Amino acid sequence: MTPRLRSIDWVGDKVRFIDQTKLPNDLSLIETDDYKVVVEAIKKLKIRGAPAIGIAAGFGIYLGIKNFSGDDKELLKGKFEEVCSEFAKTRPTAVNLFWAIERMKKVFYESSHLGVDELKKRLLEEALAIQSEDIQMCKQIGLHGSKLIPDKANILTHCNTGWLATGDYGTALGVIYTAFEQGKKIKVYVDETRPLLQGARLTTWELMQRGIETILITDNMSAYLMKLGKIDCVIVGADRVTLNGDTANKIGTYNLAIVAKYHNIPFYVACPTSSIDFSIKTGDEIPIEERGGEEIVEIMGRRVAPEGVKTFSPAFDVTPNSLITAIITELGVIYPPFEENIQEIKRKIYAND
Ligand code: MRU
Repeated sequence: MTPRLRSIDWVGDKVRFIDQTKLPNDLSLIETDDYKVVVEAIKKLKIRGAPAIGIAAGFGIYLGIKNFSGDDKELLKGKFEEVCSEFAKTRPTAVNLFWAIERMKKVFYESSHLGVDELKKRLLEEALAIQSEDIQMCKQIGLHGSKLIPDKANILTHCNTGWLATGDYGTALGVIYTAFEQGKKIKVYVDETRPLLQGARLTTWELMQRGIETILITDNMSAYLMKLGKIDCVIVGADRVTLNGDTANKIGTYNLAIVAKYHNIPFYVACPTSSIDFSIKTGDEIPIEERGGEEIVEIMGRRVAPEGVKTFSPAFDVTPNSLITAIITELGVIYPPFEENIQEIKRKIYAND
């Protein structure tokens, strides 16, 4: 049986990833052993989605020191830190990136008594562990989350949170896939997700491949659909969840949460615990990435606004905890009060450390 295609994978001694900017028109695979190619791929959203970015950083950091020769560990340390800081500068919001970098650093410094070759081997093992743990976490998220999906469900989702955005399966889309595999009748309304169209290009592509009924809408249609009674629940992913449950996710998520609340529709966030930033209390502390105006004045390379127009392009927004019904993680579903219940999850994770 041919192994299933993943958005990012380790093949031989290289990383292979799908260039997500080319989907759905071209399924283009890039193979590289140059960490700088991975750094650029994250910046340009060829690799995107919080968990996939974390996995890419793990493999990329290993690639950055893989060809280091000699046995001078001070030199190796300098190179390692330089590579880590290049990855840390790629995108600021998804905490999975920093979580993965910290894991790689922990292994590096805990293995510093080892020889260079052994140390490199440990780093590759850690990168592979980040990938395989993410896949397991997504499976668990699917199982926990599918219990919240009724038998006949009309679901609205935003951005892309499927196998393209993760090690495999996905988070919010993983919940949908699991519910569908359980035989539930599912219809998914997909926000196009301007400016970069992750919904229109990627989520529809994934869902239709699975044979799930998929309806593409523009981002400004959700309130009307809810008023018509067409939506039973909303499920989105997360780039960073704080200790009180505030959640950064793709720009437009906050609007969706407000309209869902107004219409009394459950609003679920699905994410692995690697997306929870246990070091900050509220969403006000989350750094929000701002991207170039060209992504707004153009749609897929075609200019749609007059030359010289001013733009503002935050890539994410923060949904306050009061608008979130529950957060679905691999360790179970977290309900309000989030302040208390996220502390409980933190205790579970650190007890296993
Ligand atoms: O800018 P992107 O495409 O990386 O943003 C992705 C999102 O906002 C996703 O919803 C989030 O990373 C979760 S992916 C499982």
